[in-house]
Amino acid sequence: NLDEMILCIEDLRIAASKKLSDSARDFYNSGSTDQITIHENSTAYAKYRLRPRVLVDVSKVDTSTKCFGQQVKFPLGVSPAGLQAMAHPSGELATSRACARLGISMAISSFANYSAKEIRDAGKAIGPIRHAMQLYTMKDRDLELRIIQNAEAAGCSAIFLTADSPVLGMRYNEWRHDFRTPAGLAFPILERDSEKIRKTSHDDGFTSFNDDAHNWTRDIPWLRSVSQMEIWIKGVLTAEDTLKAVELGCDGIIVSNHGGRQLDGVASTIDALPECVEAAAGRIRVHVDGGIRAGTDVFKALALGAEHVWVGRPAIWGLAYDGQKGVDLMLDTLYNEFKRCMQLTGCNSVKDITKACLGVVRPDGP
Ligand code: FNR
Repeated sequence: NLDEMILCIEDLRIAASKKLSDSARDFYNSGSTDQITIHENSTAYAKYRLRPRVLVDVSKVDTSTKCFGQQVKFPLGVSPAGLQAMAHPSGELATSRACARLGISMAISSFANYSAKEIRDAGKAIGPIRHAMQLYTMKDRDLELRIIQNAEAAGCSAIFLTADSPVLGMRYNEWRHDFRTPAGLAFPILERDSEKIRKTSHDDGFTSFNDDAHNWTRDIPWLRSVSQMEIWIKGVLTAEDTLKAVELGCDGIIVSNHGGRQLDGVASTIDALPECVEAAAGRIRVHVDGGIRAGTDVFKALALGAEHVWVGRPAIWGLAYDGQKGVDLMLDTLYNEFKRCMQLTGCNSVKDITKACLGVVRPDGP
């Protein structure tokens, strides 16, 4: 059945989207307001051209690298995206198993439908896996502390402090559908049960706990004082904020615009990446997420100076398509594409992926 042949992430997106309700599909797939940034996140990759070296022995290509100090199969992990049990009942458990199966890292959203311990245990039962715990700054500091302590006790390696969300972006799809979390799904990390969550819109629910007074000097030293986990800032898009993260002694940044779901009109992450890499100057780790839909995108991000990348929606599409098997399929697809791209460009290790691997740039975009 050719309709069901999933050869690339776009095939998976189409097949998965057919299996979701309109409201779930729009919640997962949309960005904010005019959809400019979400669109550019993926299309901006097309302006870069690869510059291959030929007649290189690539029979022993090594795609591996390190993430949070652990060897990973290739430089890609799954971003923290909430509400995965709406795509498939096993939700984040299935994602964790798929990541462990391939040997890559996963970040757990505060809006996960399972606890950090359940998600870690599901992955660990398959193989070694590192997790990051995504965190929002919260009005209720005791709850924020419990989230951190539970994540640390469960064995998470890092905190991803999401810095781009003092308030939610304007997501018309959520207002149009009066989006509510489906009955029966809870947010155990946020200590919210299904009934409580369903009383309010996503936006009101977010505003009720999230602290829009968050800031560098209050929150980063506090995080350091309460946890041994690495501290990463997720949602940096400028050299200025990269320097702030260096100054505050963070372990790394994720150049991210929340998959185009927060402020629409900001730069695509691949366009914001070079200024952040330059400002970091090797003093802090730099990862990127947003719009990565092919192994060649992973390769281009590394060539532009990212050490590692993350994908959000592709994991959701995998889940919606076929639970863990769907996420396995998504990860295998990106892994195989990345490996083949390394071989076809003559790169034998991720260290070989440098600026010299990128050719003609069309400055006006695709
Ligand atoms: C997200 N993202 C996100 N980020 C975060 O810090 N906390 C969260 O709870 C969520 N939740 C969430 C839900 C859904 C449905 C999506 C699609 C995304 C953003 C996510 O971590 C990541 O930055 C983007 O998804 C990356 O872009 P791509 O790969 O989806 O294009």
